[in-house]
Amino acid sequence: MATGSRLDELTVLADQAAACTRCPLAATRTQVVFGAGDPDAALMIVGEAPGRDEDRDGLPFVGRSGRLLDTLLADEVGIDRTQVYIANVIKCRPPDNRNPKAEEIAACRPYLDDQMALVAPTVVVTLGNFATKLLLATDLGITAVRGTTYPLGDTLVVPTFHPAAALRGSADVLAHMRDDFARVAQLIGRAA
Ligand code: URA
Repeated sequence: MATGSRLDELTVLADQAAACTRCPLAATRTQVVFGAGDPDAALMIVGEAPGRDEDRDGLPFVGRSGRLLDTLLADEVGIDRTQVYIANVIKCRPPDNRNPKAEEIAACRPYLDDQMALVAPTVVVTLGNFATKLLLATDLGITAVRGTTYPLGDTLVVPTFHPAAALRGSADVLAHMRDDFARVAQLIGRAA
């Protein structure tokens, strides 16, 4: 698909999402955080949900977790966020950053499915339990499933920890994330 039409279709979807009232988060969000980045990216990153900073700016991963994500992309893959497409499982901030509810995830899922179909990335990195469980259709936690690459249609899924877990202070978590992103570099042909 040509870049122009991908971009156009994502823009139409983003406009629809901006007016979305499919779940009660519509009443408490400041704005919808649809996604951002390169519509032709080989790598897509899927996080959990917007936090306070993202709800304010309308962009995914602009806070502390985002800065760690930028570091991992730069150090292990040699790219920056303009070269990937970034989205979340749910597009609106849950109040007080509580976990997304099953019905919110279900209501929002069509947007993520459409984003993945349009971007058609070679690799999707799922950050943390919510994105991983959704895309791998598993009840297993991230600790059990990470370290392996999973086929999903024409895409490869690389589950890893959420950056917030590394920011909570575990050096082990960060080391595993670095390993996972180094594998991503190989999978998209950007290994050092
Ligand atoms: N955490 C997420 O999962 N997504 C964001 O966009 C920001 C923080």
